Amino acid sequence: MKTEQENSKRSFEPIQTGVTQIFGIRYPVIQGGMIWAAGAELAAAVSNAGGLGLIGSGSMYPDELIRQIRWAKSHAQNPFGVNIPLFRSDVGELIKICLEEGVRIIFTSAGNPKKYTPFLKENGIKTAHVVPSVKLAQKAAAAGVDAIVAEGTEAGGHNGFDEITTICLIPQVVDAVSVPVIAAGGIGDGRGMAAAFALGAEGVQMGTRFALSEESAAHENYKMAGIAAGESDTRLIAKKYAPVRTIVNPFTEKIIAAENSGASRDEIIRLLDSGKAKAAIRDGDTENGEIEIGQICGMIKEIKPAAEIIQDLLREFSKTAKVFKTLAV
Ligand SMILES: Cc1cc2nc3c(=O)[nH]c(=O)nc-3n(C[C@H](O)[C@H](O)[C@H](O)COP(=O)(O)O)c2cc1C
Repeated sequence: MKTEQENSKRSFEPIQTGVTQIFGIRYPVIQGGMIWAAGAELAAAVSNAGGLGLIGSGSMYPDELIRQIRWAKSHAQNPFGVNIPLFRSDVGELIKICLEEGVRIIFTSAGNPKKYTPFLKENGIKTAHVVPSVKLAQKAAAAGVDAIVAEGTEAGGHNGFDEITTICLIPQVVDAVSVPVIAAGGIGDGRGMAAAFALGAEGVQMGTRFALSEESAAHENYKMAGIAAGESDTRLIAKKYAPVRTIVNPFTEKIIAAENSGASRDEIIRLLDSGKAKAAIRDGDTENGEIEIGQICGMIKEIKPAAEIIQDLLREFSKTAKVFKTLAV
């Protein structure tokens, strides 16, 4: 085990992009908010390594969010943020907690940012919103967000309906909005990061790679399932009603069978109840739970500390960027 000090060693020069400027971070690398996996420990580790760590409030009751923010405040030397999925019925309360606790960065997702973004901006919060399409990116930009996370269908967790891949989505979003774009979905190493930059992104958000890190709060069984899975082992399930990318297991097969037999919306939503993600990610039930993870899990063979993941990422990114230079005409 490396010490915290060793892990936070920074051997790379800062990278300056619109994203690093807005959020005041050293590297344009964001650790996505993730239910049951992204607690304060992961967010602080990523932030201390120069990226932007996000506490995933989607699975937290308000008092737990307060506890997590306080822990992050006392362990993170650099900015960190909170991800708030907007479908939560208590969004207002979660935002109030963030303001009272001095959180300066909020990434919203899964809902319409129009209602809350102006209020967040008035309170000096830097914001980003996660979108799966050009149309929703334009709406988020019109709502006044500082940056947009454009997430392709390769991504782990809840997904867009149109199944647009990251490689198609990023350049189209970049062309459609004037705020910096952060690419998400299928990025697990520096080659993926370089590809995202080639498409016009100014930052990357990674979920799966950090879910499979030492500081991730996910259960060991979840991490082992992620490490064992190959590139073909995930499926987008509940495509018509609430698309979510998970590892194929008996639970997933039940949903797919129900979809194939024309089950109603109510039936699919009932099978998909929110306790299933908790069962797999927090409690390690990899048979009957929803193992939310992205396609890039096929490439991940080792659980590493977040700081090492970021160091590896930057090394590979730099190497790939040099290859681009040799190809320039
Ligand atoms: C286990 C898991 C839980 C997630 N939970 C959330 C969430 O609560 N809110 C959110 O905006 N995104 C969530 N995501 C998406 C990530 O924040 C991130 O955008 C995505 O994982 C990027 O794609 P990748 O998995 O290919 O890296 C989740 C992803 C995973 C793997």
